[in-house]
Amino acid sequence: ASAEKGGYPSFMEKEINDQPAAVADTLLGRVDAFSRLTLDEMRIDPEALKKVTKIVVLACGTSAYAGSVAKYAIENWCRIPVEVELSHEFRYRDPIVDANTLVVSISQSGETMDTLMAVRYAKEQGALTLSICNTNGSTIPRESDAVLYTHAGPEIAVASTKAFLAQITATYLLGLYLGQLRGNLFTGQIKDILADLGKIPSKIQSILDRAEEIKELARSMSDASSVLFLGRHVGYPVAMEGALKLKEIAYIHAEGFAAGELKHGPIALIDEGQPVFVVVPSPRGRDSLHSKVVSNIQEVRARGAKTLVIAEAGDQAVAEFAEFVFYVPETPTLLMPLLSTVPLQLFACELATVKGLDVDQPRNLAKSVTVE
Ligand code: G6P
Repeated sequence: ASAEKGGYPSFMEKEINDQPAAVADTLLGRVDAFSRLTLDEMRIDPEALKKVTKIVVLACGTSAYAGSVAKYAIENWCRIPVEVELSHEFRYRDPIVDANTLVVSISQSGETMDTLMAVRYAKEQGALTLSICNTNGSTIPRESDAVLYTHAGPEIAVASTKAFLAQITATYLLGLYLGQLRGNLFTGQIKDILADLGKIPSKIQSILDRAEEIKELARSMSDASSVLFLGRHVGYPVAMEGALKLKEIAYIHAEGFAAGELKHGPIALIDEGQPVFVVVPSPRGRDSLHSKVVSNIQEVRARGAKTLVIAEAGDQAVAEFAEFVFYVPETPTLLMPLLSTVPLQLFACELATVKGLDVDQPRNLAKSVTVE
């Protein structure tokens, strides 16, 4: 069994370490001899894609957070409105979709019942359906008009890790493809973003090489009863995913919040010693996002929080307000979730491991929820 796990103590830890390859393999073979992005495997009529006026992303669990990241990138690159909805909410509320709606489902297994039913409903309404899926020939891609496979390889651990990064990568490819097709992005811009994406696997590897930094923190927190996660912009879904990982495998109460909501409730939860992870946007990024999040760190710290910060390399401003900082390599803001998620996965995995829990098979959870 240890051989199957590549020498790691759990499939989850192996799969976290598979992530450079998961991203690289998902990017592989997407550019033609003319430096143009090709998503031929989707077998979708480009003319139909040009007519799309709205994108609806449907998914559950971790896959839904990949959808939330996708919204930031696709809207920014393609100027098409993107809604992200949990499949089970979409199904039961009489949603508005039509022939000009592209419904993108995201599912690692391709078998999640609620997502399948939501896709069927969307198809009945005449929407164009595209499945982003990690499992060849599974039900959701079979029933969709088109499919874009993620190439993370089989994911065994119940809590999703490498499939998540591969899903985010696939949505970036979709966004770039739509931007190319619809003329929102110039060839040079697409080339630059693809080049930045191409550097992501080695940057993930550099984070994995420093895993001990975050594992040591996790071991020191094995008696934590609640951990909060704050993020803004693309860091918001990353915060949600960080919290979900901790709930799923370490059975610790964890919640992710949009940092801007702090004053609307979450700050009331802060008392002496409350651990708070903060996913900090790049100081090189747009507007004043970075300084706003640095203020949020100061606000929770002033109320006694133990501030645990994920920041970009070179960000000097955060260190003085942080109990702990983990630096991830520089990358454009929209791509940052591919890096900032990784330390949070390592944190949850190590914490569950020191608690002696079954990291791969957490209680009450299933890898694929095929019932309603
Ligand atoms: C279950 C799994 C999660 C997964 C979710 C969606 O809850 O435990 O890891 O994110 O289902 O699964 P899917 O296969 O549709 O991505």
